[in-house]
Amino acid sequence: MNRTDAPLVEDPKGQERRRYSGVAVALHWTIALLIFVQIGLGWYFNEALPDHSPAQDSLQDIHVSLGLTTLVLILIRVISRFVIPAPELPRGLPQWENWLAHAVHILLYLLMLALPLSGWLMLTLRHAPIPFWGINWPALPGLGAYSGPAHRALSGAVKHVHVFILIWIALGLIGLHLAGAIKHQFDDHPVLWRMIPFLPSRD
Ligand code: HEM
Ligand code: HEM
Repeated sequence: MNRTDAPLVEDPKGQERRRYSGVAVALHWTIALLIFVQIGLGWYFNEALPDHSPAQDSLQDIHVSLGLTTLVLILIRVISRFVIPAPELPRGLPQWENWLAHAVHILLYLLMLALPLSGWLMLTLRHAPIPFWGINWPALPGLGAYSGPAHRALSGAVKHVHVFILIWIALGLIGLHLAGAIKHQFDDHPVLWRMIPFLPSRD
């Protein structure tokens, strides 16, 4: 019998080990919420408000500060992922589903880093101040001297990546992730209890 077909663990501690740690759960839901807020806020100040209005400027400052705060939380999450390993995926899943879940999780980690880093790079290339809750966040090092047409083209490309390409990738990946979590809830391999602390354990 291989490990994934093993009978259910009787020992409640074994079940608890199949849950994500408190740190992973807190960071997962805080960062998920911040990303949804950031997509809504970004769309609102950039598309719905008049350009260069005071409201647009102050909401952009909040978007930037919140985005950098999210970056710090994401870095803590990546480090803590190495310190506290994630539980194994549910037993008995077909190989392709294991592979897809792993691939989507890795892509979500890359996306979580790319979203705020592209925003930071965009403001660095504009040589614009980078507000962080009332103080100045440093520009990305090594890019201060650039200017001219090639630089303007690069700056435009990074903006397109931040406001368009990454957002659609995010919506697609999060949709896939959510669809996987819901599918497993109904196909006898539930996973939500592993990430939602007050749900009873099921395996
Ligand atoms: C947590 C990650 C972030 C997400 C999900 C996010 C998302 C977005 C979205 C959806 C937009 C507007 C798209 C549209 O126009 O429809 C936007 C615009 C913008 N974001 Fe972010 N953002 C994040 C982090 C950051 C960070 C860290 C910075 C800067 C350090 C930043 C700077 C900006 C700026 C300056 C704009 C306006 C761009 C323009 O001038 O058109 N963002 N962002
Ligand atoms: C929309 C609501 C969401 C739900 C219902 C949800 C649900 C879950 C669940 C149940 C797991 C555990 C999967 C397992 O047991 O193997 C998980 C893991 C994960 N989620 Fe979400 N999630 C959501 C949003 C997000 C968002 C917005 C992101 C990031 C952009 C994200 C990133 C991740 C990552 C990277 C993992 C893997 C954690 C690891 O193994 O290190 N999730 N999610």
